[in-house]
Amino acid sequence: MIIDVLTCFPEMINPVISESMVKRAQEKGLVTIRVHDLREFSADKHRKTDDYPFGGGDGMVMTPQPLYDGIRTLLQQAPDGVRSRVLFPTPDGVVFKQEQAEELSHEEHLIFVCGHYKGIDQRIRELLITDEISIGDYVLTGGEISSIVIMDAIIRLIPGVLSEINSALSDSFSDPLLDCPWYTRPEVFEGEKVPDVLLSGHHANIDAWRKEERINKTKERRPDMWKAYQDKGDDKNG
Ligand code: ADE
Repeated sequence: MIIDVLTCFPEMINPVISESMVKRAQEKGLVTIRVHDLREFSADKHRKTDDYPFGGGDGMVMTPQPLYDGIRTLLQQAPDGVRSRVLFPTPDGVVFKQEQAEELSHEEHLIFVCGHYKGIDQRIRELLITDEISIGDYVLTGGEISSIVIMDAIIRLIPGVLSEINSALSDSFSDPLLDCPWYTRPEVFEGEKVPDVLLSGHHANIDAWRKEERINKTKERRPDMWKAYQDKGDDKNG
């Protein structure tokens, strides 16, 4: 997968992609991430990328020209026959879910467009953006952090990225219940003991305990997910 990130703040992205799982995915050749400075595409002599909104109002709007030229350049650089998705993280987008992360993990080319200030000129959204994505009901200062969140969720699902193949599949949200608690050594920490059942070696009991924990947590924290789970009859399917 090739991921292009178009941003006015490349230094917000670079340190994150040089660490941990995203770094290893690149080293394994499973993903190539290229970060591009939007200012480089600006035809303005001061490399400006924003301007005042027509009709008035506080804040600035990102101008169409650098975005148009930047996105089109990246689209043209995509290998022949490859479909590109142009993602715009924005608080008024469709809320990002695990399902969409899975769908996007099968794509060959993603372009992230990081907005700032009031957002980007609407014509760019209409002409070039394929997916407007929100990472939740709160407002961040720009699209860089949201792009990193979305990228991380996608990259870890690319086959071969995680060494523990089953671990991504058993995450909360890959299925309809939240995850159960997990413990490791030591057996007692600050006076708190690991639940006996986990030390029993009795796998059926351990599975039953985990399922019950997952159900209780889901009921308490996510009534919406619990309802969907019951409606699907998943509790009867084990
Ligand atoms: N940019 C600013 N806030 C955002 C949010 N909640 N989701 C995605 N992109 C954003």
